[in-house]
Amino acid sequence: MASLIDNARKLQEEFTAEAGKVRETPRSSLIEELRVSWLGRKGALNKLYEDLKSVDKAERPEAGKAINQLRQSIEKEVNELKELAVGFEIKEKLSRTPVDISLPLKGELSQGSLHPVTLMRSLLLKAFRRLGFTVYDGPEVDQDFYNFSALNIPEHHPARDMQDTFFLKDKNFLLRTHTSNIQIHAMLQEKPPVRLVAPGRVYRVDNDATHTPMFHQIECVVVDRGISFSHLKGIIDSFLKSVFGNDLQTRFRPSFFPFVEPGAEVDLQCTICRGKGCRVCSHTGWLEIGGSGMIHPNVFESVQYDSEDYTGFAFGFGIDRMAMLAYGLPDLRQMFTGDYRYLSQFPIYR
Ligand code: PHE
Repeated sequence: MASLIDNARKLQEEFTAEAGKVRETPRSSLIEELRVSWLGRKGALNKLYEDLKSVDKAERPEAGKAINQLRQSIEKEVNELKELAVGFEIKEKLSRTPVDISLPLKGELSQGSLHPVTLMRSLLLKAFRRLGFTVYDGPEVDQDFYNFSALNIPEHHPARDMQDTFFLKDKNFLLRTHTSNIQIHAMLQEKPPVRLVAPGRVYRVDNDATHTPMFHQIECVVVDRGISFSHLKGIIDSFLKSVFGNDLQTRFRPSFFPFVEPGAEVDLQCTICRGKGCRVCSHTGWLEIGGSGMIHPNVFESVQYDSEDYTGFAFGFGIDRMAMLAYGLPDLRQMFTGDYRYLSQFPIYR
């Protein structure tokens, strides 16, 4: 029996030495090895319990107590080591050499690609910057005032209808239905002259092959002394030619928008059939890309511009429409599926 107690004491010393070593670098893997070799099924402690069976009955309690003490002290130390391991391993991970993100990729990793709408937007902005325009931004969630009232759209106008407009719970707020809200924000901020373009998302309750609930527009606003409809035509013709090429014609059709007078819809000769007539242009040879016109005096009044002194024009074109034309896409909805295989096939248009 003396030998078993001695043995337990010797094992305690051995364990303390081994555990001390692990304590220097308390990694989970080392701690697990230590635990298995001492507390595991074939571990040192179980062997001691085996030996206990051959100890005299009278002396067994004392010997058993010594072994239990040893087991408790081993368990305590293993648990302490496990706690140390958490902090130690985090520190070790952080001190490792960081990943060098400037190294070239190994293997066939994809580079990603730009969305056709992004490609078209960059092209448009490039064209407008070249013409001296400033790029503007405005809120997608806006108040009725900027999206409707200040744009001379009266209370009962069908554009305000719930069937067209996404209103927020508080009916004073809505998802803008066009980028024309930016006209108001910009003119309230700037004194004339103004020469700006603003691309952005717009929202309407609509969904078919040529309409999606969210789409993109680019708004253009010019205000100065002596601005006339011929300036509007000149700018539109010039930027469409720089985007789609010199051989495509543009055409203006009289149309009504409450915030312009006169107003016109703008058509571009079909890029697919070049005016001959095809399925995409419903055999007319022309495709509608947006609205335009001379800014209405009532709009100037709501931003306190003097309409005796200043005139201006504005137009709003569909970026997605232009992307469809540029790439010859039959269905607008495909662009918003987020299918990488579909979206990664578009090269820079021009
Ligand atoms: N905001 C109009 C629309 O979305 C387009 C437009 C803009 C018309 C500017 C005239 C002037 O339909």
